[in-house]
Amino acid sequence: MSRTVLVTGASKGIGRAIALGMADRGYDVAINDIASEKAGLDTLATEIQEKGQRALPVVADISNQEQVDAMFQKIFSAWETLDVLVNNAGILTVSLVENLPEEIWDRVFDVNAKGTFLVTKAVIPHMKERRSGRIIHIASIGGKHGGPGQAHYCSSKGAVIEFTRVLAMELGEYGITVNAVCPGIILTEMGRNNLGTQAEIDAWTQKTCLKRLGEPEDVVGSVAFFAGEDSAYITGQSLNVCGGIIFY
Ligand SMILES: NC(=O)c1ccc[n+]([C@@H]2O[C@H](COP(=O)([O-])OP(=O)(O)OC[C@H]3O[C@@H](n4cnc5c(N)ncnc54)[C@H](O)[C@@H]3O)[C@@H](O)[C@H]2O)c1
Repeated sequence: MSRTVLVTGASKGIGRAIALGMADRGYDVAINDIASEKAGLDTLATEIQEKGQRALPVVADISNQEQVDAMFQKIFSAWETLDVLVNNAGILTVSLVENLPEEIWDRVFDVNAKGTFLVTKAVIPHMKERRSGRIIHIASIGGKHGGPGQAHYCSSKGAVIEFTRVLAMELGEYGITVNAVCPGIILTEMGRNNLGTQAEIDAWTQKTCLKRLGEPEDVVGSVAFFAGEDSAYITGQSLNVCGGIIFY
């Protein structure tokens, strides 16, 4: 039986690349996104099945407890086990703090921080019972080194990085590892929408040691590493996958 993984926010961008990359590595993949992205999830499910793996599309807003509960009911009525959780879903808006509406701060924290908490909380009993599991958060280099206009986003990703460390402390004795991947600038809808002018794109490219911005596929290897046996003795860490923008 193939190992199983749930990837949240999988209909496009980094989540989609992770879902396909995990199918390439022999995983069955449950793929989540919000209702408006259902068509993308269905297309992705077909692509995963064409690779010979099982695919399970599950629509849910990860910031909503009832929808998260319904998502896991669907997953566990279809599959007996979930080996790996990839908390990828996230949102980004740009605003200086002095102009930032309270509702936007709340929404960004609801999805990026609370959503990660709700989905993780739901898998803990299952992974504890099996004394095995891999939890991987897609955080951001912004969670370590913020940028102007992104206080809410960077603070939420900083919360995810600290959440990673505390979870590692709580779950290590049950054979569960918890790690974060911190992408740099990745050319997805989110990445492109926030890069700004060509001059800003060029400046970011120059700031990156490898002199190119990332593609979604650049993030996959680190997730596969944290999901597999080669990382068995690594937990509570946050790994930058940024082509060399920050170094800590
Ligand atoms: N693109 C980048 O440069 C970059 C850099 C660092 C970190 N990240 C992080 O990587 C992750 C993926 O980003 P991306 O660039 O692929 O973004 P994206 O916007 O292309 O994709 C994000 C996906 O998450 C889904 N999503 C949003 N809210 C959701 C919710 N409440 N419930 C379920 N799904 C939801 C969206 O519908 C979308 O399909 C995010 O957590 C993001 O913060 C991205």
